[in-house]
Amino acid sequence: MAKKRSIDDMILTNKRIFMRVDFNVPIRDGEVADDNRIQAALPSIKTVIENNGKLILASHLGNPKNGVDPALSLKPAADRLSTLVGQPVQLAPDSIGDTVEALISDMQPGDIVMLENLRFHAGEKANDPEFSKALAKNADVYINNAFGACHRAHASIVGIPQHVSDSGAGHLVLKEVQYLENAIADPRRPLLAVLGGAKVSGKLGLIRNMMPKVDGFLIGGAMAFTFLKALGNEVGGSLVENDLIETALDILEMASEQKKLFVLPVDAVIAPWAETGVNIQIVPVDDIPPDMKGFDIGPESVAMFKNHLKTAGTVVWNGPMGMFEIPEFSSGTFELAKALAETDAVTIVGGGDSASAMKKAGVASKISHISTGGGASLEYLEGKILPGIAALPDA
Ligand code: 3PG
Repeated sequence: MAKKRSIDDMILTNKRIFMRVDFNVPIRDGEVADDNRIQAALPSIKTVIENNGKLILASHLGNPKNGVDPALSLKPAADRLSTLVGQPVQLAPDSIGDTVEALISDMQPGDIVMLENLRFHAGEKANDPEFSKALAKNADVYINNAFGACHRAHASIVGIPQHVSDSGAGHLVLKEVQYLENAIADPRRPLLAVLGGAKVSGKLGLIRNMMPKVDGFLIGGAMAFTFLKALGNEVGGSLVENDLIETALDILEMASEQKKLFVLPVDAVIAPWAETGVNIQIVPVDDIPPDMKGFDIGPESVAMFKNHLKTAGTVVWNGPMGMFEIPEFSSGTFELAKALAETDAVTIVGGGDSASAMKKAGVASKISHISTGGGASLEYLEGKILPGIAALPDA
């Protein structure tokens, strides 16, 4: 993909900089519960401030259904950012309109204003040109620093760039694209994709797009059971997408034709249901009783996956190996996370669950790149062109 115009090549001084960020962060008891996405946006935020730009930040939070929803205000995010940058971050009462315009016209170079949740206006998701124009009215320059929202063709992502005189990509977008692009186009080999999560259906696009590019797949999570059943294993009551058995067989055949490694678990941690404190057993994957379900990969599978990881040059991981939120089913994911941290490979983790698993396993700082985009990184690896990236001019 062509290089995109970068924030570093733009004139920011004294300009009103509209920066789209993805501050769609978990809020608990009125506070930001995980500020990863805010931290990840800091380099570009600091660049604008250091260059004496007037920084106008804009984001969505959640999915408000009927206009304004006070529970989805960006106030907690503005407060957290203010603490992180050590200066006031004023939350505007709205994202468009006269009051916002007045507030922005009073800004001094180096000030930060955060607009209220963009999705309080239906025009954001509808990519309404009138809403884009109303947003652009308060901006000289547009910067997209919201990788996590780049798969959304919404007004603040694809609409505004058409109505400002200069636009470009923030550091976070540039960094995410660089890691994901290198992993696909020019990886250190062997390139292994570790895939997990509940459903094969959610990963079909990724498997198909990455099949010619990877050297192998390591498959865990409940999605492995659809493949295991397709191969004739008794997987008991484990989650299986029966309508995808044929597709799973096609994928297995494709992998074998293209001589790609396609590693499935050999044992599983099983229980009658998923609950903390439940009695668990470890059994071979072809020996799961009808009243039991697999909720994690077993120790033999972990050892096998770890051996493969040791040989890798690049690893792309998307989706946990089991229900790691429950301690009894967390070993597979956590053990593999630790193994990933210990390899010399370039390691790239995408997907909200996998990112939080890396944090819980205490290895997040040892991963080369943890994507801030769940859906966005998945769509990128599926080979889709992200509308938010396409909307930015080339360098
Ligand atoms: C995300 O959390 O993946 C992004 O912020 C996009 O949010 P959305 O799925 O509500 O559009």
